[in-house]
Amino acid sequence: MTRTAIVTGGSRGIGASISVALKKAGYNVAANYAGNDEAAAKFSHETGIPVYKWSVGDYDACAAGLSKVEADLGPIDILVNNAGITRDSMFHKMTREQWNEVINTNLNGVFNMTHPLWSGMRDRRFGRVITISSINGQKGQAGQANYSASKAGDIGFTKALAQEGARAGITVNVICPGYIATDMVMAVPEKVREGIIAQIPVGRLGEPDEIARCVLFLASDEAGFITGSTITANGGQYLA
Ligand SMILES: NC(=O)c1ccc[n+]([C@@H]2O[C@H](COP(=O)([O-])OP(=O)(O)OC[C@H]3O[C@@H](n4cnc5c(N)ncnc54)[C@H](OP(=O)(O)O)[C@@H]3O)[C@@H](O)[C@H]2O)c1
Repeated sequence: MTRTAIVTGGSRGIGASISVALKKAGYNVAANYAGNDEAAAKFSHETGIPVYKWSVGDYDACAAGLSKVEADLGPIDILVNNAGITRDSMFHKMTREQWNEVINTNLNGVFNMTHPLWSGMRDRRFGRVITISSINGQKGQAGQANYSASKAGDIGFTKALAQEGARAGITVNVICPGYIATDMVMAVPEKVREGIIAQIPVGRLGEPDEIARCVLFLASDEAGFITGSTITANGGQYLA
């Protein structure tokens, strides 16, 4: 049976690697994205993976978008909540907009995507919900009170929902990447990036494919005994 997966923020960065890895492993894959039409069109052209545009921060848009994906590809078995943003600022300068945007995308977005799919997964007695949190949701990071709160929220969400899904054949897990070489990290000034690498025991940034391999493992039928877990993939930077 060919299973169907959707990856939010699946046309760039870590999400693009996840989409491609799932496709190579034989899944039907849809990639969602928010606004970068050019990157999404290029990705779809190069990979043959269909792309769907909506914001994970909008519940109604998620419900409508997911219905469209299911009409095109069939019921969704695997949800990868990967979309995420940063709006960094020290707390004394942080605006309500910076706080709300990050919580709405990184935490509400996970609710907005998972909730419309949950009943179908329960009815079919199979599901995989895999959320990409962050090292900074585990350890906290100055300048990221909004981001750290949202990513810690993703971990709590996972632990609670895993207990609800277990009897219905649905596993719910979270991956906490350390610093990975994507646009998000390459946007950081080079000097700051060098400082980050100096704190990583393996001596380098992670590669998006290294996170995609964690997703492949959790998505598989064979990973049914693993639920509520937090997979840490950070080059030894923080031992949770
Ligand atoms: N890179 C790292 O070092 C690192 C470390 C730990 C955790 N993470 C987490 O890993 C995930 C992916 O990060 P990345 O570095 O690959 O990010 P990225 O290169 O900035 O890509 C982010 C992706 O998310 C999409 N997106 C943003 N807001 C969205 C929304 N409201 N609705 C739907 N899609 C949205 C973007 O869509 P568009 O293409 O349309 O803009 C893009 O495809 C994030 O959750 C991030 O917090 C990253």
